[in-house]
This record gives sequence, structure tokens and C-alpha cells, in this order.
Amino acid sequence: MGRSFLFMLVIFVLAIFAISGLMSRALSAAGESQQGGSLEIGRDVYHVRCAPCHGHEGKGDGPYAMTLNPRPRDFTLGMYEYRSTESGSLPTDEDLKRAITKGLPGTAMPAWGKFLQGDTLEAVVAHLKTFSSRFGSEQPLPVPVGREVPSSPASIEAGRVVYEKLQCASCHGTDGRGTGATATDFQNASGLPIQMRDLTEPWTFRGGSSARDVYLRFRTGLDGTPMPSYVGAVSDREMWQLAVYIVSLGRKPAWEMNEQELIAFYRSQERLVSNDPAKWGKYLVEGMGCADCHTPLDGKGGNIESLRMAGGTRFTAGPYGEFVTPNLTSDTATGLGGWSDEEIRNALTKGVRRDGTRMLPFPMPWTALARLKTEEQNAIIAYLRTVPPIHNEIPRPKPLSFFPYLWGKFKMLVLKEDFPAEIFPGNAGTLKGGQQ
Ligand code: HEC
Ligand code: HEC
Ligand code: HEC
Repeated sequence: MGRSFLFMLVIFVLAIFAISGLMSRALSAAGESQQGGSLEIGRDVYHVRCAPCHGHEGKGDGPYAMTLNPRPRDFTLGMYEYRSTESGSLPTDEDLKRAITKGLPGTAMPAWGKFLQGDTLEAVVAHLKTFSSRFGSEQPLPVPVGREVPSSPASIEAGRVVYEKLQCASCHGTDGRGTGATATDFQNASGLPIQMRDLTEPWTFRGGSSARDVYLRFRTGLDGTPMPSYVGAVSDREMWQLAVYIVSLGRKPAWEMNEQELIAFYRSQERLVSNDPAKWGKYLVEGMGCADCHTPLDGKGGNIESLRMAGGTRFTAGPYGEFVTPNLTSDTATGLGGWSDEEIRNALTKGVRRDGTRMLPFPMPWTALARLKTEEQNAIIAYLRTVPPIHNEIPRPKPLSFFPYLWGKFKMLVLKEDFPAEIFPGNAGTLKGGQQ
């Protein structure tokens, strides 16, 4: 526990350094950018402020990219989500400026409005457009938006009917929160997993939460995601009614609720969870990063997605030996398929392996999991049962023999060397490569 805490502390301190470094460089670039030619300014500001995430060549592969979800946009694809233009078109300069100055809420993309204005902002937009040759040959135009329909009980009800007619529920659920959705796993144009938006949480809408913003999102589609454009499917008036309906679904964020509202909100959450424990379990498992460890690494810092939860990441932890993360898929022979609920619970909360032996309190964070409520443990177990089976036989942990163990301890305790730990890319299980 002490060591895993120390490890977390180190990560935390590194993250603070990374963020403060980014901010101070961003601030100093604001001063520098007042002089010089405009394309050069755009390039310089981009390299300082945007490249850490979006990469120097705009490929979405900057040094911070690997740690972000969703990942930064790859500008070389020339594909943008938050546009006022027809599906498949480029965004207008105004669209780009909006994303840059207001940021994309719910993602790592910051709001640059305070630092980037006027000519500097124009220059950054001009530089961004150099990453895709499409900008040289196409002239994007905003779509006509028709007349806005005011919000009223009648227009909201009419919008609800449009929501049904257009089958938004197949992805967003009957309640806008995903309940009853038939499609649940989504990928973006780069093949990375993306999360569906909860339509009751307007503060997470990347493109803004006004009726006009929402109208534009489904009117023009989110290019590079599974959400299509709905132009022509219904009349313009119906689209406005739908937008008004979506806005009406928005709830208050928890931080703005009073006591009564909070109690009522958490009751409704609990009801939702008891209706669908596996879904809640998925939410917990994603939030707790189980897949980050229990999926092999691809060597570029990401996980091999075709082996999701199939185990195979190899760790060495100083004098404690070598561990390969076990297979958590529902495969009966090599995963958790043959385990009883109690066996899984014991592993999660007591660190007891199936053969009754004990794990160390790291790398598997069972001491933290032990603090979960029973219903939360049940939800995680219910979700693990639904993870598609992958046959990947994982070797047992290898404790070091006695003398290397003593030598390791001596180095740490007497020579005060850092705790040596390493993580290796590739799958250390029997299934080779990422094929499946
Ligand atoms: C801390 C990381 C980070 C930094 C720094 C950053 N971005 Fe982003 N940016 C992101 C992420 C993440 C996304 C994708 C969000 C998503 O998929 O919803 C994104 C998306 C975008 C988009 C796409 C909008 C769309 O409609 O698809 C633009 C444009 C953009 N960023 C411009 C910039 C510019 C210009 C800068 C520098 C001034 C910058 N970003 C700096 C993380 C960052
Ligand atoms: C095929 C699945 C699918 C369907 C059908 C679908 N959506 Fe979406 N929707 C998504 C996904 C995925 C996202 C999140 C995209 C992302 O984060 O990159 C999203 C995001 C949104 C957003 C958030 C936009 C923002 O600014 O962040 C709104 C609003 C929305 N959808 C409304 C609708 C409406 C209204 C309909 C029906 C007309 C609909 N969606 C149909 C998958 C779908
Ligand atoms: C920091 C990396 C890490 C994280 C995060 C992590 N695990 Fe583990 N997990 C391991 C390792 C390593 C083992 C094997 C330990 C051993 O046997 O000594 C393990 C073992 C297990 C086992 C026992 C399986 C078996 O075959 O013995 C289960 C079940 C499990 N983890 C579930 C989870 C769940 C659920 C989460 C998320 C809540 C999670 N793990 C998060 C690294 C991790």
C-alpha cells in the first residue's frame, strides 16, 4: 500500500509539472506572438500550445496524447466534429475559432479564449489549416438554419416524437442517458473508442448546449463518429422541436443542486443502477482503469484494443518479482468464465487468488477495491461476466528466488535506491500479437 501510494504520488507530481509547464509556456507564447509574420506566428504558437497534444505535424500524437481520452484530433484527416457546415465538409474559420476559444467541454481541449485573440487567433487557424490539403481547394459554407422554435410544453412534446421517429434512442437511450440503447460501443475515425454523450448532462456538450448548438449537431452530424447527419429526414421545424426537446432533458449538475435535489438525484441514480448492474459495472471498471492494466500495451503507449481485458501486460516490481496481468474476459479456460461470484469478489477485495494464495497489495489495487460497497462489487462482477471471451493463457506470477530478493531489498532499504519497477509492451500470454 505504502509503495503504491508513493507511485501514485510520483505520477501526481509529474502531472502537476506537466500541466504547469504547459500553462507557463502557453502564457509566454502570448507575449512573443505580438511580432513577426502571421504564418510564422501561427506556427510558433501552435508548436508551443497545441503540439503537446495535437503533435507537431498535427497528427494528434503529441507527447500528452496517449494519456488523454478522448484523444486529441488528428488534423491531417481534415475531419471535424463541431461544424456549422454540411456533413463531410470542412468547418468554417468561425467553427474552428469557436472550438479553440471556448474549448471542448468534457475533454482535455482547453478554452484558449483568454490567450488567443484577434490576429494571433487568425494565425493559429491559418496554421491549423495547413495540415490538410482540403482547405486549399474547398470553401465550406454554413448550412441554412431556418427559424428557431421557442420552447413550450407543446414544442417539447413534438420534439419527443421526433426523437422517437429518428431513433436517437438506439444510441442515446429512451431517456437520453443510454437506457435501452441497442448500440453501445463506438469508435472515432482513428479507430479509438469514444463514449456516447449523456443528453441529460448539457455541460458535457462539446459544441455548446443552446438549442441552436444542439440543432447544428444532429443537423450536420458529428463527422468521424457514428452519429450521422439528419438533414432531410424530417422538416426543419421538426429539427428545431427536437433541439428544444433535447435542451429540456438537461438536468442541473450535482454541484448546483441543493440538499433535497441531491437526495432525489442520488435516489434516481440508484434506481437506474439496480435496473442495469452490468452497465454500472462497466462505468466503474472504465473509471478505475482496470483495462489499462489488464489489456496488453502496443509499444506506443496505448492498449492493444483487440485484446481488451485479455490480460498479458508484464510488470516487474523490484524484489517482488514479475507479474503478468490476468485475463479478465469471460473465457472459461483462461479467463474468469469458470470462476464463481465469490471467487471474483475475494480476488477483488481480499487479494486472494483462485488457488487461495494471496497477491501483494500492488500492482493489483485490491486494497482500494475493498472499500467499494457490496452493490458496486456486484456491478463490477456482473459487468466482467459480459466481457467477450478471449482465449489467452497467462503465466503465473514469478516470485524472485531468495538471494535476488534479498539483494533487491538491500538496494532499496540500505542503498536507498529507487524502487525499481518496469512495464513491458506486448502480450505475455499465449495469444501472439493483436489478432483475434
Ligand atoms: C491538453 C491537450 C490539448 C491541447 C493543448 C490542445 N488541444 Fe485541441 N483537442 C484536444 C482534444 C482531446 C480534442 C478532441 C476532443 C474530442 O474528440 O471531443 C481536441 C480537438 C481540437 C479541435 C477539433 C474540433 C472539432 O470540431 O472536431 C480543434 C480545432 C483543436 N483541438 C484545436 C486546438 C488548437 C488550435 C490548440 C492550441 C491553441 C489545441 N487544440 C490545443 C486536446 C488539446
Ligand atoms: C449511431 C449512434 C448515434 C445516433 C443514432 C445518434 N447519436 Fe448523438 N451521439 C453519438 C455519439 C457516439 C456521440 C458522441 C461523439 C463524440 O464524443 O465524439 C453523440 C453526441 C451527441 C450530442 C452531443 C454533441 C456535443 O456537442 O457534444 C448530441 C446533442 C446528440 N448526440 C444528439 C443526438 C440526436 C438528437 C440524435 C437523433 C436525431 C442522435 N444524437 C443520434 C451517437 C449517436
Ligand atoms: C496497476 C495495474 C492493475 C489495475 C489498475 C488493476 N489490476 Fe487487477 N491485477 C493486476 C495484476 C498484476 C494482477 C495479478 C496479481 C497477482 O496474481 O499477484 C491482477 C489480478 C486481478 C484479478 C485476479 C485474476 C486472476 O486470474 O488471478 C482480478 C479478478 C482483477 N485483477 C480484477 C481487476 C479489476 C476489476 C480492476 C479494476 C477495478 C483491476 N483488476 C485493476 C493489475 C491491475
